[in-house]
Parts: sequence; C-alpha cells; structure tokens
Amino acid sequence: MKRMLVAPSMLAADFANLAKDIELVNANADIFHLDIMDGVFVPNISYGTPLIEAICKRASIPVEAHLMIVEPQKFFDIYKSLGVGSISVHYEACNHLDRTINRIKELGMKAGVAINPHTNVHLLEDIVRISDYILIMSVNPGYGGQKYIPYCTGKIAELKKIIQKNNPDCLIEVDGGVTTGNIEEIAESGADVVVAGSAVFSAKDPAEAIKKLQGLA
Ligand code: DX5
Ligand code: ZN
Repeated sequence: MKRMLVAPSMLAADFANLAKDIELVNANADIFHLDIMDGVFVPNISYGTPLIEAICKRASIPVEAHLMIVEPQKFFDIYKSLGVGSISVHYEACNHLDRTINRIKELGMKAGVAINPHTNVHLLEDIVRISDYILIMSVNPGYGGQKYIPYCTGKIAELKKIIQKNNPDCLIEVDGGVTTGNIEEIAESGADVVVAGSAVFSAKDPAEAIKKLQGLA
C-alpha cells in the first residue's frame, strides 16, 4: 500500500485525558482533525474554540478544522489566530463557495471543500481548480463511529479523474468509517489523506493502528 497521511479525529479522543491523546497524535500521526458541529448543519454539537485552542497550543504537527456548520466564514479569523493550518467547509453549507475558499486562502490557510455522501463529485469540477483538498464524507456527518458507506469508493475514483484533469495538486481526504479493514480499497481508489476516529482511539494499540493506516505496518 502507498503511504497515506493519517488525521486522527479528536472527537473520539478521551476528553478527560486529552493531553495523553494529543501526545499520541503528535508522536505518530500526520495531522490533527478537529470536527466542529453546530447542531444546525448536522444534528449534533461537538466542541468549540476553547478546545481548539487547547489542542493547537500543544500540537507539533498541522491542525485541520472540518467545519460542519452554517456560516463557517464567521470563524476563519479566530481559527487562524489559534494556529489552525487548514479549514474545510461544506459544499452544502456555502452559497458563495468561491468567495469562501478564497477567504481561507487569503488568511494563509489551506482550503478544503467537504461533501456529504449524497453530493455528486462532478459538482466540484470548477471549485477543485482553487481548492487545496476535497474531503469526501463516507458517513453522514454528525457522529463518530459509523459504518463506511460502500458507494463512496466509486466517488473517490471519479473525483481522482476530475482532479487529475483540473488540478493535480488538490488532495483527496476521506472521512468516516475508515478502518484497517478498508484502508487498502480507499488508498487504491485515489485517496491521499484519511481521517480516523474510532479506528485509532478504540484500538488496543492506537500507535500501531495509525501505522497500519499509514501503510507503514
Ligand atoms: C463525522 C466526522 C468524522 C468522524 C470520524 O461527522 O466528520 O471526522 O469523527 O470518526 P470515525 O472514524 O469513527 O468514523
Ligand atoms: Zn471530520
């Protein structure tokens, strides 16, 4: 398997022992993945600025925020000031996505477009030209620990073709239900980055689970 970048979702971390889980990610993974939910765009609320600040303060690898919220642009400046390096916003939550992506880039962060499972990748043919990454949701967003939706593998492969044609530098990130059991299929279909919550933090040996997802074990 090729080397994958692994972004543990801190939603699955032990919030009562956060320092320990932050150190685990610092020492073994590639990116911190922070899931921000507002109870409006998705039917759940996760965590906000104080926790993002705490993680950013201790992170020694890049931090990305996945914004499952309406009006995401309200938070770009504050997240930038906290040290967030990449922000993804949902296609389904933005009426002026070109402006939104450009604003993230103007602030000096990497900009990603996230799509729900039902959103067709061909809708991204134009926006991939200015995006640093596309995040394909492979579960319905709102909760960790769900099962991977099998038809998403075909979406990754289709998006890969679009990216090769329109912006080969744009990365593909896959988020939801990623495990050591389906990582090969996800990697082979063209993904570059995987998010993993339960597959990392519920594993007996989280460091070993990260290595397997990276294709190093
Ligand atoms: C779901 C989040 C995911 C999720 C991943 O709304 O965007 O990042 O926490 O968790 P697992 O890997 O457990 O599916
Ligand atoms: Zn996520």
